[in-house]
Amino acid sequence: MPKIIGILTAGSDCPGLNAAIRAVGKAARNTYGMDIIGFQDGFKGLVNDQVISLEGQALSGILTAGGTILGTSRDKPEAMPEKDGNVDRIAAAAATYHKHQLDGLVCIGGCETQESAFHLMKQGLNILTLPKSIDNDVPMTDTAIGFDTAIGIATEAIDRLHSTAHSHHRIILVEIMGHEAGWLTLGAGLAGGADVIAIPEIPYDALKIADAVLQRNKAGKRYSIVAVAEGALARETVTFFEHSRKINDSIRSGVEKEKVDQTLEKIENRLSGNAIPLAYRLEKFTGLETRITILGHLLRGGAPSAADRNLATQLGSACARLANEGHYGFMLAIQNGGLQLVPLEQMVGKRKLVPLDHPWIESARLVGTCLGD
Ligand code: F6P
Repeated sequence: MPKIIGILTAGSDCPGLNAAIRAVGKAARNTYGMDIIGFQDGFKGLVNDQVISLEGQALSGILTAGGTILGTSRDKPEAMPEKDGNVDRIAAAAATYHKHQLDGLVCIGGCETQESAFHLMKQGLNILTLPKSIDNDVPMTDTAIGFDTAIGIATEAIDRLHSTAHSHHRIILVEIMGHEAGWLTLGAGLAGGADVIAIPEIPYDALKIADAVLQRNKAGKRYSIVAVAEGALARETVTFFEHSRKINDSIRSGVEKEKVDQTLEKIENRLSGNAIPLAYRLEKFTGLETRITILGHLLRGGAPSAADRNLATQLGSACARLANEGHYGFMLAIQNGGLQLVPLEQMVGKRKLVPLDHPWIESARLVGTCLGD
């Protein structure tokens, strides 16, 4: 009987997921004679046994298509949202796996997917994962599927904003996704020549940014492009949350303290729209007309770049090879340009942020980009 593997995409979508599904499926079927089935909408489909057939022509013509033919969701098997709150449904996920007599399961996703996959592995399932994230925040890998495409889209947006900012002598802020990590904003800001780059890893001082803009004006450059990561915060905002947590720690305990901590975290990590207060302050401090462009989900749409197609194909085909050899329990990573296997237990509870000594930060400073500090 041929081996059979399952595949799902979880978390947010991104360009390159279909290329990865195709690579896993074609290599599994054509080279190793395995069968492959898909699960719909991430772990939800595994828990609820919702299968998508990948037979016939299902894997053809999808290399260049954005999104995921399997659908996706943020639902986690260890905490599935149900009527009365989150419920541990790992046993149901395992039951589906055994019902289909799977030899292995491939989970494609970001940080949280890696963690969910680890929970399934602990349950005795054979798991392999591939990293995807436009945020590039998946640890233990240099890059992830979707990041290159998103950098390209953000860079093109910055290029286009330059000419209109220049014509109107305006400050234009461009807000770029990335969750708590600044990779996308830093990479696109550097590539697009943004005059200011604000990332979560470097809390900004709005007065310093205003000063940088005014200096440019004095030098005859009557416009500025400010690339702002959606998670970038002002220094005083960071201090406010630090103090609030300390006060909460000292005056509350137990469930009450936990609730306030959760609320603080929710407010602090309210992502989309963080550029708005900065824009307001820059206009006020500089007296210059200011506009905002929030790129949002545009960064996750459309066809994958050539680099993402190739990354997905490299990771996906290697994944099929490992499944055929019976090697499980790893995320397939890229480290120093080569393929590496990272044990899934090393992925739990981690997120890759931009280190402050990263070469992109150094280069940005050397060419005179203001980083808000
Ligand atoms: O993790 C990818 C990402 O696009 C983040 O950059 C962003 O903060 C988040 O997902 C947006 O999620 P949603 O699609 O649920 O709005």
